[in-house]
Amino acid sequence: MQLQDILYSQGFGTRRICAGLIQQGHVQIEVNGELAPCDDALEDIAVEEGWRFSVQGVVWPYHAKAYVLLHKPAGYECSHKPSAWPSLYTLLPACLRQRPQKSAVQGVQAVGRLDQDTTGMLVLTDDGPLIHRMSSPKHHVPKVYEVTTDRALDERQVQRLLEGVVLDDSPKPVRAAACEAVSTHHLRLTLTEGKYHQVKRMVAAVGNHVVGLHRSQIGDMPLPQALAPGQWRWITPAELKLLS
Ligand code: URA
Repeated sequence: MQLQDILYSQGFGTRRICAGLIQQGHVQIEVNGELAPCDDALEDIAVEEGWRFSVQGVVWPYHAKAYVLLHKPAGYECSHKPSAWPSLYTLLPACLRQRPQKSAVQGVQAVGRLDQDTTGMLVLTDDGPLIHRMSSPKHHVPKVYEVTTDRALDERQVQRLLEGVVLDDSPKPVRAAACEAVSTHHLRLTLTEGKYHQVKRMVAAVGNHVVGLHRSQIGDMPLPQALAPGQWRWITPAELKLLS
């Protein structure tokens, strides 16, 4: 693959911009484990996952597809065109936001959405089949939510969430795959589908009210403790298996 195409695929601008960056000496490439200057935009490279290069001093690993984990803080909308709050995508580096479109997927996208005031685990990728697999109701990927309630929880509320409640957009009851009261105002709820405001509406349907919502796990992968709110990191291939 030509160096200019590698940079383009990783979101460093149009091919013309990438060629310019290379020709002006702003790019270094990994050779035998070390970064070395390269000013040939057409240099042919046998690129593989994790191979490193740097652009204007910023070191970047090559990834054919981007798989990213973000700890969403409160106060961000999961939209490229937010209406009231900053876009979650502003938390990612520009090159991740600018990766070119792959087949039907318009660059890096969040897999499902969290509300503006919800915190926690979010996966972003430009892998169309993965987005489909993780979002499809057929695949039932479980998602665990830590819910803080306004009023004290009781056993009847937990039972009703497990048995199923009817929401206003469908007569078919929706039920929690798992539900436990961790403390008087802390509910741990597992859902395998992702309807609009589902946790808040389910908790309201049993007569309580959500005052705090945090997604702590997707599939078999918990949100890593080391990932602070607002931080992102690459997802490893082993973690990817746990997620879907
Ligand atoms: N359910 C909600 O009500 N809000 C979220 O952000 C996620 C699940």
